[in-house]
Amino acid sequence: MVSTATQIGDFHFDNCLMNAAGVYCMTREELAEVDASAAGSFVTKTGTLAARAGNPEPRYVDTDLGSINSMGLPNQGFQYYLEYVTELQNQPGSKHHILSLVGLSPDETHTILKTVQASDYEGLVELNLSCPNVPGKPQIAYDFEMTTEILTEVFTYYTKPLGVKLPPYFDIVHFDQAAEVFNQFPLVFVNCINSIGNGLVIDDESVVIKPKQGFGGLGGDYVKPTALANVHAFYQRLKPSIQIIGTGGVRTGRDAFEHILCGASMVQIGTALQQEGPAIFERVTAELQAIMAEKGYETLEDFRGKLNYID
Ligand code: DHB
Repeated sequence: MVSTATQIGDFHFDNCLMNAAGVYCMTREELAEVDASAAGSFVTKTGTLAARAGNPEPRYVDTDLGSINSMGLPNQGFQYYLEYVTELQNQPGSKHHILSLVGLSPDETHTILKTVQASDYEGLVELNLSCPNVPGKPQIAYDFEMTTEILTEVFTYYTKPLGVKLPPYFDIVHFDQAAEVFNQFPLVFVNCINSIGNGLVIDDESVVIKPKQGFGGLGGDYVKPTALANVHAFYQRLKPSIQIIGTGGVRTGRDAFEHILCGASMVQIGTALQQEGPAIFERVTAELQAIMAEKGYETLEDFRGKLNYID
C-alpha cells in the first residue's frame, strides 16, 4: 500500500500535493474546487489588510516553458480568507488549510497577524516574504535585516503555527545567511520557492504582460532546478523542527518525487494547476504513487531528503 500522506507541524494531510498560493485560490469558489479535488489541502491567495484590484491586465501569460505574471496582489482582503478557513476548520472531517498573508508595510503585517492571533483560527499561516510584483515594494526576504526585524516582532505576540514563503536564493552564502535567520525563530515551515522574480518574456517585438514594462515572476519548467536547489539547501541547513514545503516546476509525479527527495514534506503546484485545473492533483498523485511502488517505497519518509550525491 503506497501512501502520499504527510504532516506539517501537528497537522495531518492525506495527500502531500496542494495548490501554490496565487493559483486557484482567489475566491471561496476556487478554493472549494481545490478542496473537493485530490489535493491534500489548499493555501489561500495572499491576503492584505484591505482588498486590492491588483495590476492592469494582461498580467498572467502561459509560455512553452511555464508562465510569467505580475498580478500585483489582487485579493479580497485577509478577513475574507480568514473567515473561510475558520469556517472549514469548524466542520467535522475537514482537511487542514494554509492561510497566506502579508501587509504592504511591517505595521500592516503586524495588524493582520494580531487579528489572526486574536481569532478562532488555529491552523497554519504562511507569511509571504516574497511578493515580487508590487511596484516600489522590494521583496522582504532579500533583506535579511528587515526579515529578522519583522520576525522578531511577530514572535513577541504570535503563538500559533507560522511558516514563511521564500523567494529563490542563488548564492551559497545567501542560503547560509537566510538559514541562520530562520533558525532563530519557532517557524513550523519554510516554503521554497516563490516565482523567480522579474523575468522578461518577449513575443515578436513586445513584452507579453502589461505591468512593469513586461517584467514579472517566472513559474513552471523554467524554475524547477532553482526550486529543488532551494528546497535541498534549506533541508540541509534548517533545524529539524522547521519543515520544508516544496514549490516550483511541479507538473508530473516525477517532479513531486524530486522535491520530496530534496527534503520537501508537502509539494505545491502553481503554473501547471493554472494550465490544467484541479484534476491535475489526481494525475500527479497517481504518477507519484506509481514511482513509489516501482521503487518499493510505501511512505514519503522512505525517501524524503535521501538525495544521492556523487562522491
Ligand atoms: C503576487 C505574486 C507573488 O509571487 C506573491 O508572492 C504574492 C503576490 C502577485 O503578483 O499578486
